[in-house]
Amino acid sequence: MSWRASVLSLFPDMFPGPLGQSLAGRALENGVWSLDVTNIRDFAHDRHRTVDDTPFGGGAGMVLRPDIVDAAVAAVADDRPVVCLTPRGRPFSQDDARRFAAGPGIVLLCGRYEGIDQRVIEARQMQEISIGDYVLSGGELAALVLLDAIVRLLPGVMGAADSAVEESFGNGLLEYPHYTRPAEWQGRSVPEVLLSGHHGAVAAWRQAEAERITRERRPDLWAAAASRHHAVTAAS
Ligand code: ADE
Repeated sequence: MSWRASVLSLFPDMFPGPLGQSLAGRALENGVWSLDVTNIRDFAHDRHRTVDDTPFGGGAGMVLRPDIVDAAVAAVADDRPVVCLTPRGRPFSQDDARRFAAGPGIVLLCGRYEGIDQRVIEARQMQEISIGDYVLSGGELAALVLLDAIVRLLPGVMGAADSAVEESFGNGLLEYPHYTRPAEWQGRSVPEVLLSGHHGAVAAWRQAEAERITRERRPDLWAAAASRHHAVTAAS
């Protein structure tokens, strides 16, 4: 049984989109994972196929009805986690990607309009997840981001070389800079140590650069990595 993604959306034509290409696209063709997309509107029951209504308490925008969303979830739900994409969610991380990749698959609910009735989020025990502190016009692009990050971790999707790279982000640091030929380009040369053929010196330089870049760009990641390192050395 391959890893299964089910997407619930009002814009099903947005899928598979970019996931039909490249690494994820090939894995989809090879049956490493499968994708089914359900139009939430198919579960409306009036003549106008209405899926939303005005918010109780007033205010702008429309809210997706819990009964319609519940029926759409029921059509695909099994033992997989149900994730609701929303800027109100917990931030998505590489750890989440690993956790979802290790399971049977995922159900992704893409919100639109002002939101989704909170009762169906609770009743279906959905995990609310955000891909960052900005507001998209819907959850579809966020769902594509989650799937891309997860699918590349599925067994057989990436080569051995790339798995090592994923391990290197797994250490909580940003990656060191990369260089290839020509060794001199527009008056810019490649750091000398990389041409030295000295593997130990190269590894040390890369580690130092990864640490410097993480410290400069992401003090939050640096503090977390430093406290993990501290815990490890304190325990030994
Ligand atoms: N829907 C709208 N904005 C979003 C975000 N930042 N993350 C996840 N889903 C969203």
